[in-house]
Amino acid sequence: MQSTAAALASSDGDGDRSIGRIVSVTGAKAIVLLDGRGGAEGTRLQVSADKPEMGTLFAIDTANTVVLSIVSALNVPVPAHREGEAELWIAELGLVGELVKRANGTAAFNRGVSVYPTLGDRVRVASRLELEQAFYDDKRDSVRVGSIRQDPSIAAMIRVDDLLGKHFAILGTTGTGKSCTTALILRSILQRNPAAHILLLDPHNEYASSFGEWGEVISPRNMQLPYWLLTFEELIEVLIGNPQERKAEIEILQELIPLAKSRYGSGRGNAARDLRRASSDARYTVDTPVPYRMSDLLQVIDERMGKLENKRDLSPYRALKTRLESITLDPRYAFMFGSLTIYDSMAQILGRMFRVPVNSKPITILELTGLPTEIVNVVVSVLCRMTFDFALWSEGQVPVTLVCEEAHRYVPTNPSFGFEPCKRAIAKIAKEGRKYGASLCIVTQRPAEIDPTILSQCNTVFALRMSNDRDQEIVKSAIADTGAGLLEFLSALGQREAIAFGDGVTLPVRIKFDELPAHAMPRSSSARFTEMWQKSVGDEGFLDSIVDRWRNASASAADTLQSASLFAESVNLPVNVAEPPAPAVCEDRRLRSRESHGERRDFAALRREPSVAAAPPAKSAGAVRAMREKLHQR
Ligand SMILES: Nc1ncnc2c1ncn2[C@@H]1O[C@H](COP(=O)(O)OP(=O)(O)O)[C@@H](O)[C@H]1O
Ligand SMILES: [Mg+2]
Repeated sequence: MQSTAAALASSDGDGDRSIGRIVSVTGAKAIVLLDGRGGAEGTRLQVSADKPEMGTLFAIDTANTVVLSIVSALNVPVPAHREGEAELWIAELGLVGELVKRANGTAAFNRGVSVYPTLGDRVRVASRLELEQAFYDDKRDSVRVGSIRQDPSIAAMIRVDDLLGKHFAILGTTGTGKSCTTALILRSILQRNPAAHILLLDPHNEYASSFGEWGEVISPRNMQLPYWLLTFEELIEVLIGNPQERKAEIEILQELIPLAKSRYGSGRGNAARDLRRASSDARYTVDTPVPYRMSDLLQVIDERMGKLENKRDLSPYRALKTRLESITLDPRYAFMFGSLTIYDSMAQILGRMFRVPVNSKPITILELTGLPTEIVNVVVSVLCRMTFDFALWSEGQVPVTLVCEEAHRYVPTNPSFGFEPCKRAIAKIAKEGRKYGASLCIVTQRPAEIDPTILSQCNTVFALRMSNDRDQEIVKSAIADTGAGLLEFLSALGQREAIAFGDGVTLPVRIKFDELPAHAMPRSSSARFTEMWQKSVGDEGFLDSIVDRWRNASASAADTLQSASLFAESVNLPVNVAEPPAPAVCEDRRLRSRESHGERRDFAALRREPSVAAAPPAKSAGAVRAMREKLHQR
């Protein structure tokens, strides 16, 4: 036994490097009495390479194994009065794994411990070879994300299948590097998996630069998420907001939306015929994700209003009509209520979101800044729901990862915050996604504010520096007992450092992440005051451009033109009232109408961003007015 142990230990070229002995073993913990200063072993601990610190990996030789343990606490129970006098130095260890010695001198790594150390066993700092055997994973799905703190020459690897399959979380106080870590981990994964399917919800529009060519960037300007994909609850959130006060309107919608759906399904155009064929006898519920026209819905509302005897009952109908009409004209909602034509575009939307075909862009970055705040939760809800359903109905052939930044916004602990359907959708991925290949990455600076049932489903956790006590407690409660001590120094972690634990890493480990290349840094959301306060900016042109952007956010002339034509389309007005001049849009429109007539699909062209900026503002305003007049005449 000694010879194999010595072979493992002496691979660095020296003999016995033990620095203490076991004096207590309880469960998966052990206590070592270190050969401290003034002790029999003299000054050995002063050799800095062997000086243990939090997170150092120790090795303890047993008959056929080397037990690996992590230092989780260091203390001197009775300090000497004077420096240099003998005192006891103690290290607490978590027993985390073992190397099983083989006859040929090599060793196999196991998580967990089968043979426990006994009292008096000598303890040494793990050798380089042992560190390599423990951390270097030869599994084919492993990718590098950094090095281990104890020995920078040893790579910190993550096991992609375990990491994604069982969900993971990246936690840390603002500014500690969560976004950089997210970008780094995803980039490492993408380097090895060119046909991945990752959907990243990017609330601060910061990730586009991190993925360059790999990223399909979807912003409110080029997004399409038609209203008919929304469940009833989601639609109510968009249209009505607080359901308590407007029950009558909700009841009306609940009754009339299925009518509008079946009117479309039994109705006009070739696309509709396709749909009708597919579901001739289907009865639509308010939640069935099939298209319907706003114009049909408005029409059935009108018909109902005509039949009402008591004119006092008209007011919820009127309120609904006004809301529907105004939201259809609101450029901020054009991505949802402004399809040029209503046709069954669900396959294209799924294809674009989840990268099928991947078209060399394995990650979709969904920029949420610019969406009206009141609708962000609904959009996130739809996407989370679609992620799960897509994975489910693709029968595991297209595993999808959903990266949820600022997750505490969408799945808050407090039941009265957040949007219930959104919470349900994320919880569903967390609880059942594993079976179908839908996985979740949770990124948050407030672990204490996130629903604990979601966090507890994240098997792998990267804990960056964390200063808040409550947050630390939550993370500690998530980690198995053995590594818990590691988290005691969460508040003292350095830049780019994290404690990683769970199945995505071989052992709980203190990682030093690799540095992201400058071009791949997420665009930081922190303002650069001193840099920007060095010289004066701000001639009139500059201010004008600010004012323009400000106004455009609520109603740009070009957007108005576009949404006007969209609206015209949805209520069956002749579209040439507001024919957009930009060629990309026209081509886009032709493609769609061709497609709705059953012709070949050109995904690439369909994905082109409609460029509508060239529209002359005066004409667009006139066009909108003309259309409003036409509408009134109807
Ligand atoms: N892996 C890394 N590579 C390079 N810089 C990093 C890395 N991790 C953190 N940083 C530094 O930390 C800063 C803050 O990171 P960021 O990801 O924006 O933090 P958070 O998202 O937690 O607020 C970055 O500006 C960067 O300088
Ligand atoms: Mg961030």
